Amino acid sequence: MCGRVGGWREGESGVPSRRTAGAALSIEITDLTVQYGQSLAVRGLSLTVPTGSCFGLLGPNGAGKSSTIRCIATTQTPTSGTIRVGGHDVAAAPAEVRRLLGVVPQGLALYDSLSVAENLRVFGGLFGLRGAALRGRVDWGLELSQLGAHRDKRVHTLSGGMKRRLNIAASLLHAPKILVFDEPTTGVDPQSRNHIFDMIRALHKEGRTVVYTTHYMEEVEALCDRVAIVDHGRLVVCDTMEALLADAGSREFSVSLSEVTSVADLRARLAAAGVVVESLESKGRSLEAVFLALTGRALRDAS
Ligand SMILES: Nc1ncnc2c1ncn2[C@@H]1O[C@H](COP(=O)(O)OP(=O)(O)OP(=O)(O)O)[C@@H](O)[C@H]1O
Ligand SMILES: [Mg+2]
Repeated sequence: MCGRVGGWREGESGVPSRRTAGAALSIEITDLTVQYGQSLAVRGLSLTVPTGSCFGLLGPNGAGKSSTIRCIATTQTPTSGTIRVGGHDVAAAPAEVRRLLGVVPQGLALYDSLSVAENLRVFGGLFGLRGAALRGRVDWGLELSQLGAHRDKRVHTLSGGMKRRLNIAASLLHAPKILVFDEPTTGVDPQSRNHIFDMIRALHKEGRTVVYTTHYMEEVEALCDRVAIVDHGRLVVCDTMEALLADAGSREFSVSLSEVTSVADLRARLAAAGVVVESLESKGRSLEAVFLALTGRALRDAS
């Protein structure tokens, strides 16, 4: 489903191609170029995001991710190329595109001197919500961000994680179908990061299409079913997570065991089962698992 794919042709990986099966596409980017002065930030990028997918857009600093997202969001005009969102051309029908899209920007877009609830009311108003509909969505935003207990606090008094959660809720008040997150976990602790992941999983489960942009591989691995890697403004690879991680030549597996007591025990059991082992090593839990076990998963919002 991408312009240039690493060893994958449309229709493989169990995913029907648009041409063969008419699969719906939420975002179609064709030959996108973004130039700043003499510098080409995005260089002929083509990719498609299937409706209902949780799509990871992965790339190092300066790869062109935010420039691409700003073009999708209609806040930046591409130098060349076309983008369709929900079938609408962003250049020809920007209002339709903005109705369908919820874009959570990389930088916080909040009013520091207003309270949490006031921010949600202002953003809801900007999305055209009024009266009972606005009140309902503000309550939804407080619930989503778990900031109900802090509704009257001014934003400048909130922690980084609380601001990030509010930034997400404020961007999604108009109940968009297609959600684009640009590095939403920047500067947050593991508790808030987990909560943000839970928010995104819940929104995806409700049937929304998600584009998740980051340079943290483990975040894409934890959340996404498809992934595109961009570098220097170009698409490097795009495929299902399963196909990208499945390397036919790989002979390394990571297995979690609950009963085995030691490497020697495991080696003996494998030998007894006739499994020939080249090397075997035991790994501890990840530092994050230890951190969360020791400090708990509850959000750390100052009361
Ligand atoms: N408004 C701008 N004016 C000039 N150059 C810009 C502008 N915005 C981005 N760039 C440059 O374009 C390139 C791509 O930037 P972009 O922000 O799109 O990358 P990114 O993948 O989002 O990076 P990051 O992970 O750091 O957020 C970079 O070299 C950046 O310096
Ligand atoms: Mg960026």
